[in-house]
Amino acid sequence: MTQNGKNTAVAIQVDRLQKSYPGVKAVDGVSFTVPRGEIFGLLGPNGAGKTSTLAILEGLRQADGGQVTVLGYDIQRQPREVKRRIGVQLQQTSLLPDLSAIEQLILFARLYGRSLNKTAAHHLLNEVGLAEKANALPDKLSGGQQQRLALALALVNDPEIVFLDEPTAGLDPQARRRLWELVRQLRDQGRTVVLTTHYMEEAEALCHRVGIMDHGRLLALDTPGGLINQLAGSSTITTTAPLPLDEVKKMVGVQQAEQEGALLRLQTSDPATINTALLALADTLGIPLRDLHVQQPSLEDLFLHLTGRTIRDA
Ligand SMILES: Nc1ncnc2c1ncn2[C@@H]1O[C@H](COP(=O)(O)OP(=O)(O)OP(=O)(O)O)[C@@H](O)[C@H]1O
Ligand SMILES: [Mg+2]
Repeated sequence: MTQNGKNTAVAIQVDRLQKSYPGVKAVDGVSFTVPRGEIFGLLGPNGAGKTSTLAILEGLRQADGGQVTVLGYDIQRQPREVKRRIGVQLQQTSLLPDLSAIEQLILFARLYGRSLNKTAAHHLLNEVGLAEKANALPDKLSGGQQQRLALALALVNDPEIVFLDEPTAGLDPQARRRLWELVRQLRDQGRTVVLTTHYMEEAEALCHRVGIMDHGRLLALDTPGGLINQLAGSSTITTTAPLPLDEVKKMVGVQQAEQEGALLRLQTSDPATINTALLALADTLGIPLRDLHVQQPSLEDLFLHLTGRTIRDA
């Protein structure tokens, strides 16, 4: 699809992006493409370079190298064209302490050169579930409500792309799910969403595709399912049946097996065959096969595989 010579199917194109600060390569040769309508996630630990990457795409910071095209516009040469069409929720949202929710929206719209009347502002508040809080000051809002107000502020210019930097950081599970629903609504409205997160389950539940970042590099990029499939070959099976560990280790297809108290845990590339073999072994020994669980690998396992650390340790 092209329009005015622009590829309208692509929202964002990033090519070999570089950004250094004194003593640290925050972004070290990152490339990716985000098609329109996608919810794209950057997942990584503190200091991975997520915010630095976003800030460049948003036109808020200058890259040292590489190329970024947003909605067909070069971010270096045409930042104004980009900024008109995107909405940005920063990691640290600075809500103005003395303005009510609705006043903040109206002011923000004016900063974008748009006039938002009270009805339209109410409509936006309603969209993020804050209709009752129109006249509340920010310090009277819960963490989740503040995040939703920040999201509404990112929507005042009816953006084609919405950037959300850790939109659910610090929220309880219920507030987080509420925000996920709002992000899905944005997608249903045809917007492209780029978000960052530390939370594996968030990336898995929300994103079409996820880039795993660490030390300024993109280590992997795929759908959550595709990422997990990269680890196919390591399903985990556990059971509390007292099977002899030596026998289990000898089974063809068992990569690793260990006993931890009453729990026997093994890794395998072929869970179906191993399940059958475990059943046969238990049957021969006259032992009931109790608490048998097969666990597919998770994004957490992939992160560990790629970086040697869990995301919490990182
Ligand atoms: N303005 C800055 N000046 C100097 N160093 C910076 C600056 N901004 C970021 N950095 C450094 O660049 C690296 C990447 O930081 P960035 O904020 O992009 O990471 P992040 O993935 O967003 O982390 P977090 O999950 O904590 O938000 C870090 O080492 C950070 O200390
Ligand atoms: Mg950050």
